Amino acid sequence: MTHAASLPLARLPIQNQSQGLHRNTHLIRRKPWESKLQKGAHRSTFSHRAISSITTSRRFQHQQRNLYTAQTLMPHQPIVHDIFETKTGTYQYLVADPSTKAAVIIDPVLDYDPATQTITTESADALIMLVEEKGYSISRFLETHAHADHLSASSYLQKQILEQQGHHAPIGIGKRIGQVQQLFSKRYDISKAEYEHAFDTLFEDDQVFKIGKVEATAIHLPGHTPDHMGYKIGDNVFCGDSIFHVDIGTARCDFPGGSATDLFHSTQKLLSLPDETKIWTGHDYPPDGRDKPVPWMSVKHHRELNKHLKEDVSERDFVQMRMERDDGLAAPRLLHPSLQFNVRAGRLPGKTEAGHRFLRLPLKLGELEW
Ligand SMILES: [Fe+2]
Repeated sequence: MTHAASLPLARLPIQNQSQGLHRNTHLIRRKPWESKLQKGAHRSTFSHRAISSITTSRRFQHQQRNLYTAQTLMPHQPIVHDIFETKTGTYQYLVADPSTKAAVIIDPVLDYDPATQTITTESADALIMLVEEKGYSISRFLETHAHADHLSASSYLQKQILEQQGHHAPIGIGKRIGQVQQLFSKRYDISKAEYEHAFDTLFEDDQVFKIGKVEATAIHLPGHTPDHMGYKIGDNVFCGDSIFHVDIGTARCDFPGGSATDLFHSTQKLLSLPDETKIWTGHDYPPDGRDKPVPWMSVKHHRELNKHLKEDVSERDFVQMRMERDDGLAAPRLLHPSLQFNVRAGRLPGKTEAGHRFLRLPLKLGELEW
């Protein structure tokens, strides 16, 4: 069952297939209280069929892997573009102030093939194309946490923006990232010089900052990781890996420093926001019976429908459920490369004397030793 149809904005899928990947783009039916979509706000990037369904999309016919939708809200609210990266199930966000065109990019993905250790930038370049298309000036990159399931494109994009827009857009993350960097730099033997000043902004809890004229607040949402932050921008919260779609529930808490108790309190912080606040998730993995990813649901929907949080679940029951569930989860596929990249804010590892760059992979030996 999908609850997407009960969302205030019903999504109408346009199916298309390209290179074996299933992709959708969506039109959004708007309620009368919402302002009209900006002309050209929705574009399919994948097929002529989809493009012909959206009259404003003809200029954008190149091949591109991800999908995006955009929403313009009331005055003083940001425009939100959600861009779904299909291989890791990650939602990337481009959030802009419509009056100044200042914008931030949240949790961008660097493409990585673990079979060949090949890094490519199709997903990141698609974000840049969208930024250019809309005429935005990127003022910041925001990371919700040191991800363990995908590599961050923030550092790559920072360089692209410096070259294209002529300014250094800071990469921000929560102030507790230092703990996470120390832990994983020891584990992966990363030198201090490679991670120490990798992030430009270390957000304090509840720190307020501006995106053009739109107000944003960094909110500490620990649980999945200890450093985890959400970003409230207008009436939207970008919650990273804390709350997922109502039919998935919540994020795992079994990484070092993770805590189901902390996650419970973080979810209560989110669910205490006004009913209509939109919670934009960091990932979606549509289960059987739901055919497409959904980027946001309201606080009200989560209170009523979230499978881990509805019916005023008690802290004790939540923690027990979360810990039992986490016990059965496998390690993320890109765990080791992701952490090594992401504690460096997405910077490349230094070169060896022979001119190569390496990531480390721990061996699983069990009791073996010789
Ligand atoms: Fe994560």
